[in-house]
Amino acid sequence: MSFLSTVSVLFFFFGVKVYCQYEIYQWDEEYDPVSNEDYEPQFQFNPNVEYGIPYQHMLGCARECFCPINFPSSMYCDNRRLKTIPNIPTHIQQLYLQFNDIEAVTASAFTNATNLREINLSHNKIKSQKIDYGVFAKFSNLLQLHLEHNDLEEFPFPLPKSLERLLLGYNEISTLQTNAMDELVNLTMLDLCYNHLQDSMLTEKHFAKTEKLMQLNLCSNRLESMPPGLPSSLMYLSLENNSISSIPEKYFSRLSKLHTLRMSHNKLQDIPYNIFNLSNLVELNVGHNKLKQAFYIPRNLEHLYLENNEIENVNVTVMCPFVDPLQQHHLTYLRVDQNKLKEPISSYIFFCFPRIHSIYYGEQRSIDGQTIQLKTQVFGRFQGEEEEEEDHDDHDNPHVSQESEEHLAPHYYEIQEWQGII
Ligand SMILES: *[C@@H]1O[C@H](CO)[C@@H](O)[C@H](O)[C@H]1NC(C)=O
Ligand SMILES: *[C@@H]1O[C@H](CO)[C@@H](O)[C@H](O)[C@H]1NC(C)=O
Ligand SMILES: *[C@@H]1O[C@H](CO)[C@@H](O)[C@H](O)[C@H]1NC(C)=O
Ligand SMILES: *[C@@H]1O[C@H](CO)[C@@H](O)[C@H](O)[C@H]1NC(C)=O
Ligand SMILES: *[C@@H]1O[C@H](CO)[C@@H](O)[C@H](O)[C@H]1NC(C)=O
Ligand SMILES: *[C@@H]1O[C@H](CO)[C@@H](O)[C@H](O)[C@H]1NC(C)=O
Repeated sequence: MSFLSTVSVLFFFFGVKVYCQYEIYQWDEEYDPVSNEDYEPQFQFNPNVEYGIPYQHMLGCARECFCPINFPSSMYCDNRRLKTIPNIPTHIQQLYLQFNDIEAVTASAFTNATNLREINLSHNKIKSQKIDYGVFAKFSNLLQLHLEHNDLEEFPFPLPKSLERLLLGYNEISTLQTNAMDELVNLTMLDLCYNHLQDSMLTEKHFAKTEKLMQLNLCSNRLESMPPGLPSSLMYLSLENNSISSIPEKYFSRLSKLHTLRMSHNKLQDIPYNIFNLSNLVELNVGHNKLKQAFYIPRNLEHLYLENNEIENVNVTVMCPFVDPLQQHHLTYLRVDQNKLKEPISSYIFFCFPRIHSIYYGEQRSIDGQTIQLKTQVFGRFQGEEEEEEDHDDHDNPHVSQESEEHLAPHYYEIQEWQGII
């Protein structure tokens, strides 16, 4: 065979291969209507082995997984009933292994994987003892690690210094080494909701070095007191569904950046009246506690949830000791249903908080255990376009979707431009 004919034969094969690949890719896009973003192939597709184009072949993709042509650094191995982690090629940066039956994280699978930036191992069966020591720590570029919905009993340690987001929700974590987070200087988000953490596991030292932490989720654990030593960078703190009964007097003095505090479903009873005097606080949820009294409302607070407490009388003077017409309070939404109110809150509240849109009274419990509906006056009416103002950072808040329907309910105080009315 002459040189030219060899070349043309090679071209022919190459052309056929590319053509096949193109055909298959087309079909595959039609087959799965889901966009590339949450692409979850439903079949075992093995481009590099059976139909590979040279590029894919060179870089490689684990047999069990799928490496999209247009995202060459991502490897999708999710939803495949895998019991072990396949070998990860060097060029992979995003690794998706969620929804499998993986129990162990073995160093051998990762010998060549030095460029990983994101690993999703959520919804597996990983146990703490089956994670090879140091396997995660060597990924010096790792930014995001998903380990939620596994069987971890301990906080994974050690972890790489580069880590920014760590998701550990829905495990059985009950222990956390004192120095577990010392290296995590870039950590901005830590989710530990739905674990078995007790007070004794969280000490002043744990968060001493995480100076960039902005979001800490500790909901649905077994805490009886506020976690100590939180970094002053914190903006979002979630402590719902624990058994916290009090907040120490100076607790928030370092946490002046706090924007959202979620503490519903705890046992808060007596708290210092000015404990939430935080100049950046915008959302405060202390519903489903045992509070008997209202407290000082900081100027920037917009959304306040007080439902399911033991409040008999909302003292507006305590919430708002003085009115400064030049520095209006920002409160727009107040929820007080399932308390023990016998009458509506003094209308002075609209003077202190002129931006209040709605106070949701719902049902109130009377002393003898019966429920009562408060009949309230209506001071103003919404005007269609004003409703859009409610569209703050409430997307994950279940109450807001109800809210628009409840605007029409009689137990709603509705007010707008109160100052214009008086
Ligand atoms: C690592 O890369 C080398 C050379 O490319 C290869 O021979 C070896 O099989 C790879 N190991 C794993 C675990 O992928
Ligand atoms: C990781 O998996 C979880 C499912 O547990 C999913 O919700 C999340 O979007 C995944 N993350 C990425 C970046 O794909
Ligand atoms: C932390 O983040 C900064 C800024 O993104 C980066 O320059 C630095 O290298 C990171 N530190 C580590 C240990 O990865
Ligand atoms: C509250 O936390 C417990 C575990 O402490 C959990 O079993 C329960 O489902 C959580 N409740 C809610 C409403 O999330
Ligand atoms: C709230 O804190 C500020 C300083 O940050 C202080 O001047 C003010 O008196 C406090 N208000 C109350 C009611 O404690
Ligand atoms: C409200 O609180 C103020 C200040 O603590 C107090 O002087 C006043 O008596 C209280 N009012 C009611 C109705 O409890």
